[in-house]
Amino acid sequence: MNSLKDLQKKAQEAIVASGSLAALRDVEVRYVGRSGELTAVLKNLKNLPPDERRVKGKEANELRQLLELRVKEREATLKRQEYEGKLHLERIDITQPGRRHHKGSLHPLTIIQREIETIFASMGFEVAEGPEIETEWYNFDALNIPAEHPVRDMWDTFWLQNNQKEIRNPKSEIRDKSQIQNSKQQKLLLRTHTSPVQIRYMEKHQPPFRIIVPGRVFRYEATDASHEIQFYQLEGLMVGENISLANFRQVIASFLKKLFSREVKVRLRPSYFPFVEPGVEVDMGCIQCAGRGCPVCKHTGWLEIAGAGMVHPKVFKAAGLNPKGLQGFAFGFGIDRVAMMKYKIPDIRLFYQNDIRFLRQF
Ligand code: FA5
Repeated sequence: MNSLKDLQKKAQEAIVASGSLAALRDVEVRYVGRSGELTAVLKNLKNLPPDERRVKGKEANELRQLLELRVKEREATLKRQEYEGKLHLERIDITQPGRRHHKGSLHPLTIIQREIETIFASMGFEVAEGPEIETEWYNFDALNIPAEHPVRDMWDTFWLQNNQKEIRNPKSEIRDKSQIQNSKQQKLLLRTHTSPVQIRYMEKHQPPFRIIVPGRVFRYEATDASHEIQFYQLEGLMVGENISLANFRQVIASFLKKLFSREVKVRLRPSYFPFVEPGVEVDMGCIQCAGRGCPVCKHTGWLEIAGAGMVHPKVFKAAGLNPKGLQGFAFGFGIDRVAMMKYKIPDIRLFYQNDIRFLRQF
C-alpha cells in the first residue's frame, strides 16, 4: 500500500512539475507506459495472494485511472498555456504607429498650375489648350512675326525636320486660307510660347470671351537659374467691345493678390511684342524683400513676370475675325517663375531634375 501511495505522490508531483507537453509525455511513459512503474505493479499482481491481489489490484487500477485523468488535465493546461504564449508572442499592438509608406505627390508645377486655373476660373476665365508641336504660321506669322524679320530672334526656336507629314494630316487644324496655300512651305517647330493658342481659339470662337492657356513651351537657349529650354507659360486672352489695359491691370493684380495671399504691387512698363499694341512688360513688387531690395529682385524691388498688351488688329484678322469694334488684352507669363517666387525656389532647373528630395517637399 505504502509503495502505491508513494508512487501516486511522486507521479502527481511529476505531472504537475512537467513544464511542456514533451516533459508530460515522458512522465506518462515513466508511470503508466508499457514498462512504467505503475504498469510494473499491475503486472506483479499475479504474484500476490488472492486477497491482497484483489485489494491492491483495485487500488492500482484506480490509481492508474487517476493518473491518466491528471495527465489529461495537465495536458489541457499545458496546451492552453502554450497557445496563450504563442498569442502573446505573435500579438499585434494596434496602438503602435504604423510604418509609413511614402505616397507620391503632385509636382509643384502641377500644384501651382491648378491653383492658377482655380483663381482665373473665379474671374470667369475658361481653360483652352493647343498642341506643343506647332506650325510656323500659328507660332509666328499669324502673330505678326513675319519670316526673316529680326523680331523672330526674340524666340530661339527648335525646328522639326519631318514637317511635311503633319501638314498633310487631314485632321490638322489648319484653316487659314493663306496657310493652306503656303502649307507646302509650312515648317514645324516646338512652340516657343502659348500665344499661338490665341489664334487657334479665335478661329473657332466669337467674342466676347476670356480664356487662359497653360502649357509647355520650348526655347533653344542656354539654361541658368531662371532659364530652361522647356518651361511652362500661362497665356491669357480677354476680348470684347470695351476691354482695356485698365481691365488687364485689375485682373493681374487680383490674380497676384489671390495667389500670394497678400497685396502685391503691379507695375506696367512699355515694351514691344509684335502681336500687341501697345505692349507692356509686367513687374510685380518683390515679395521676398517687400520692395527693399534683395538678390531675387536684383536689388530693384521689382520682378518681371509677364509680357502683355492690347491684341493687335492684325492678330484678329489672322484668326478670321473683323477687328472693327473689337478689342482685348493678352498676356503671357512663366508659370515656373511664379512658382519659384511662391515656393522660394532659387533655381528653375530643380523642377526638371526629378530629385526625390526636392519633390517630396510638396
Ligand atoms: C512671350 O513669350 C509672349 N508670348 C508673352 C506675351 C503674351 C506678350 C501675350 C504679350 C501678349 P516672353 O518671351 O517675354 O514673352 O516670355 C514670357 C514669360 O515667360 C517671361 O516673362 C518669363 O516669365 C517666362 N520665360 C521666358 N523665357 C523663359 C525661360 N527660358 N525659362 C523660364 N521662363 C521663361
